[in-house]
Amino acid sequence: MIDFLLKHADLDPVSWHMPGHKGSEIFRRYGYEKFMERFVDCDVTEIPGADNLFQAEGIIRDVQDRYARLYDVDYSYLMINGTSGGILAAMMASVPSGGKIIMARNCHKSVFNGLVLGGIQPVYAYPSVLNDCDISGPILPEEIGRLLEENPDAGAVILPSPNYYGICSDIRAIADIVHEHGKVLIVDQAHGAHLKFFHKFGWGEDLPNSAEMDGADITICSIHKTLASLTQSAVLNLQGSRVDRYVLEDKLQAVESTSPSYILMSFLDINARILEEHGSDALGEWKENLAYFYAKTKQIKGLHILNLGSQMDHTKINLDMSAYGINGGQLEELLMEYGIFSELYTGNILMLMTGIGNTREHYDRTLDALKHIAEKHEYIGSKTDISDQGLSSSEGNKNRTGNGPMEAVAGKLHPIPQRRRFVDLTGAEGMICAGSIIPYPPGIPIVCPGEEITAEVIHRCKALREKGEKVIGINDHGQVQVGL
Ligand SMILES: Cc1ncc(COP(=O)(O)O)c(C=O)c1O
Repeated sequence: MIDFLLKHADLDPVSWHMPGHKGSEIFRRYGYEKFMERFVDCDVTEIPGADNLFQAEGIIRDVQDRYARLYDVDYSYLMINGTSGGILAAMMASVPSGGKIIMARNCHKSVFNGLVLGGIQPVYAYPSVLNDCDISGPILPEEIGRLLEENPDAGAVILPSPNYYGICSDIRAIADIVHEHGKVLIVDQAHGAHLKFFHKFGWGEDLPNSAEMDGADITICSIHKTLASLTQSAVLNLQGSRVDRYVLEDKLQAVESTSPSYILMSFLDINARILEEHGSDALGEWKENLAYFYAKTKQIKGLHILNLGSQMDHTKINLDMSAYGINGGQLEELLMEYGIFSELYTGNILMLMTGIGNTREHYDRTLDALKHIAEKHEYIGSKTDISDQGLSSSEGNKNRTGNGPMEAVAGKLHPIPQRRRFVDLTGAEGMICAGSIIPYPPGIPIVCPGEEITAEVIHRCKALREKGEKVIGINDHGQVQVGL
């Protein structure tokens, strides 16, 4: 492993994938050279004075309180197993075992794990559909309102915002509806830890609000994905009194390691300090680099960039070069020839995940590569210009069986099977899935526990595996878990 990692680091790669720090440079720039040299020596455990993550009263409490001030929330908790852990705890703290949750069907797999671990039954809210792309749009407030009316016994609503591609839902409207029904709103803000700070430091005019600003009860933010801390470090934010803080704290300690890493937590401290001391400069520079990049891409004929206006987190750059006959996967490979690594692709779209650590040089190197790729390929014109996307309602998504978003192809929902067996996926049509089958990335199940396995599911999984993509939930023998 270390040979691979060192060889990769020696390439001087441009990183458009997580984590958001993009390498050691940002920590040196902001004065953490000494810590970078000595952090292995700081890898301690709960020695006297080092506090305790699950009874925080000292140095850990100090960092948590600073995050609460940064996000302007009542409580913040440091997470050492990512947003994934925070999602499990948030779900179990808001919905009793045997209860119901209204969840976006395009939730991350950790939410599906939360269903199984918490004994929670899902009610799916289907996202709207982006007319010309193979990806899901926002969850519409009216869809949440309808499901709350139909399911007065649901305890909470959970949805991702932004989603993987940066598309945000109208959290203010959704929070109002959820709270009118007396329920809890949990927002998986894994991809939007930075949004609050663009607004806080005055650079947020064309970015969606963060979910904290718009009234979510719990948000979970992968600090590591876009800001300056190490992979797996995240923060859970709690506001208001709809969720019992002590129940939440109990669930948090149940899903996290009892040996939390002081390295991960100290990088959360460093990130908080960078935001407190240099937040305005750091986010201003990020914003300027984005504006520069977007302006320059306009000069590359046939390069389209997904834009949903005010619903779009523009720190995610979704490129489309299908006007050159290049799809997302091909563009990813072409950019790798220039030492440029992206986050993920779907259909014609390749997503670049920018972060606080990206420098102007990264943007320039990418612009040069894109120009070069355009010059070397024949322009055939594009069928659609994705830079001005229309939305269709979620109805379209539910009934879609063509090349629509992943989540549109599974069959009817049944109770999650308690007893299970493994069968060959190819012969599983019509059976009830007992696990999840999840292409990764993006980590959104193609079929999840309780859903019927359709011919389309089998066809999609086969196509993904033939392309060499990872599909979690299918074992080495090509089998999946179904109900007995
Ligand atoms: C939408 C979404 N939610 C949650 C997660 C989990 O976040 P983490 O990696 O911090 O555990 C991911 C990870 O990619 C994600 O894409």
